[in-house]
Amino acid sequence: MIDFSLTSEQELIQKTAREFAQDHLAPGVIERDEKAIFPKQQIKLMGELGFMGMMVPEEWGGSGLDTVSYVIAMEEIAAVELATSTIMSVNNSLVCQLLLDRGTEAQKEKYLKPLAAGQKLGAYSLSEPESGSDASNMHTYAKKDGDHYIINGTKNWVTNGINSDIVILFCMTEKGVGYKGISAFVIDKSTPGLTTGKKEDKLGIRASDTCELYFEDCKVPVKNIIGEEGEGFKIAMKALGGGRIGIAAQALGLSRAALDASITYAKERKQFGKSIGEFGAIQNKIADMGTEVDAARLLIWRAAKLKDDGKKYSRESSMAKLFASTTAMKAATDCVQIHGGYGYMQEYGVERLMRDAKITQIYEGTSEIQQLVIGRDLLK
Ligand code: CAA
Repeated sequence: MIDFSLTSEQELIQKTAREFAQDHLAPGVIERDEKAIFPKQQIKLMGELGFMGMMVPEEWGGSGLDTVSYVIAMEEIAAVELATSTIMSVNNSLVCQLLLDRGTEAQKEKYLKPLAAGQKLGAYSLSEPESGSDASNMHTYAKKDGDHYIINGTKNWVTNGINSDIVILFCMTEKGVGYKGISAFVIDKSTPGLTTGKKEDKLGIRASDTCELYFEDCKVPVKNIIGEEGEGFKIAMKALGGGRIGIAAQALGLSRAALDASITYAKERKQFGKSIGEFGAIQNKIADMGTEVDAARLLIWRAAKLKDDGKKYSRESSMAKLFASTTAMKAATDCVQIHGGYGYMQEYGVERLMRDAKITQIYEGTSEIQQLVIGRDLLK
């Protein structure tokens, strides 16, 4: 049976997230973007509302909800501020989910509980200056030394890099064996030998922070390894499979915001004696936007449901991310076009949608990597 209706609990989550976004994210969103101000207070409130560890069971500090509920909330937060939804996404679907799936009881107690409760913030550190799409080609190395690992290397493009308390790090523990030499660690940001680079100056999602991480003889206890030595790449890939559903939901929220703004403006703006929405040229753009928003949502809900049902979902998650992020970029560009000269001005808030949309086609796997994952799966 296919049922597209939400449960009363999911409706309540949607309403709570929507109201939170209107009351706490809409005010100041343009200033936070312009000045690259991290939404610290808002993230704290989101923790209190249970939005930072949504899929983590209550016994581990989370809200004990399903992935469908998570994407519904994500859409609402992203519709108002993509940067905040990025911070939320990394903490929920990469950091917390990974610790829930693979952490030891002790790691869950020490790290997952405060992360899921929103008392601490997590980052996920996979990429390196020479290793982006080719994620396993990394150089950061952890050398075992008694009951510790000594880590050296540089990671980059780390979302929440500056404001996080805890980092999930992927690095080599054995050289020359490709992806089988990668291991995962959970690391306190305050560990000596771990420092952060400058806050990157970005095109979009400027209120979220992104930076390099430097490991210089950083001493991490053996008990902080996640899973076994050499399992890191598969752990990273599995987390990204789930993470990509969250990014797709972010892209959906932004697309919906573009659609709503376009409809409102097309009704208000008069040219040649009538509202511009009465012209076919504008109607067609809005019709395509509305269709693509709905199609993206269906792909996302399917991927989320497969994950909740414990079924294979990596192809469907990549399809959702590929389609939703393409939709976001197109919807945001058309939204600016519909707004004409006003769309190009900062105060209308739609030029930000266009700058923000771009990242959804890049992070957690570029569109080209999603095509690779989908293509390989279809052809195997
Ligand atoms: N789950 C479990 N295992 C998986 C898997 C998954 N989803 N995907 C692959 N694997 C396994 C494979 O089965 C294979 O194992 P076997 O040898 O036992 O069969 C192993 O991992 C290696 O897989 P591949 O041969 O497919 O590896 P590859 O080198 O060809 O890479 C890739 C595959 C899809 C290109 C991968 O490198 C990739 O996803 N790249 C993109 C990286 C990425 O998304 N980076 C985002 C950075 S994080 C970020 O953006 C977060 C943020 O801050 C917002």
